[in-house]
Amino acid sequence: VILTQDELKKIAAYKAVEYVESGMVLGLGTGSTAKHAVDRIAELLRQGKLHSIVGIPTSKKTHDQAVSLGIPLSDLDAHPVVDLAIDGADEVDPFLNLVKGRGGSLLREKMVESSCRKFVVIVDESKLVKHLGASGLAMPVEIVPFCWKFTAQRLQTLFEDSGCVAQLRTSVENGEPFVTDNRNYIVDLYFKKDIGDLKAASDEILRLAGVVEHGMFLDMATTVIVAGELGVTVKNK
Ligand code: A5P
Repeated sequence: VILTQDELKKIAAYKAVEYVESGMVLGLGTGSTAKHAVDRIAELLRQGKLHSIVGIPTSKKTHDQAVSLGIPLSDLDAHPVVDLAIDGADEVDPFLNLVKGRGGSLLREKMVESSCRKFVVIVDESKLVKHLGASGLAMPVEIVPFCWKFTAQRLQTLFEDSGCVAQLRTSVENGEPFVTDNRNYIVDLYFKKDIGDLKAASDEILRLAGVVEHGMFLDMATTVIVAGELGVTVKNK
């Protein structure tokens, strides 16, 4: 049997939920893969196989999903240490560095996932890359709306040598700027060449006034669960 991409996402998500124990404070990720994990956690709560879970959602969307499923929720103000976070990713490199945020939730994801003891990432094998940003797909950066063209231009100039093109993300429905849960904009960076040292790139992006956060999640994942046609692989840091 050939599994669909969504079936692979579900397999990875269910595997990750095996790490969940009763009593945990849980970071709930965002996106089509993380959605399966949230569904599964709710199912185990309903069946009484898990109890006393507190979920910390990483987006309004996940918040709404969890509320509709009856998962008890809180936030980082009340629970500054998260036991385990489970989330998808757009790219995973061999060192378990990630690109996230193509769904636009990178800031809350990074806040929650940089405050957790264990961060389990769930992907289907299509997300594996040799170098972050080399797939020709978007590297998202959340910026403040104020003079966004100025900030986008500065980001593009920063990575001139890598043939960077910075593009404001717009909503497909109306062409208006895409607005994040935090009322910011997203600039997607597209690179023609390798961006080189990721830590240096991260530091340079964060140094620009007007930038809020970027989608590189470096040295954060403790485990990556990859579902592929040949089965599930668990990579640990
Ligand atoms: C949301 O902003 C993202 O970081 C998602 O976690 C990421 O885009 C993966 O999404 P999918 O599981 O839908 O591919």
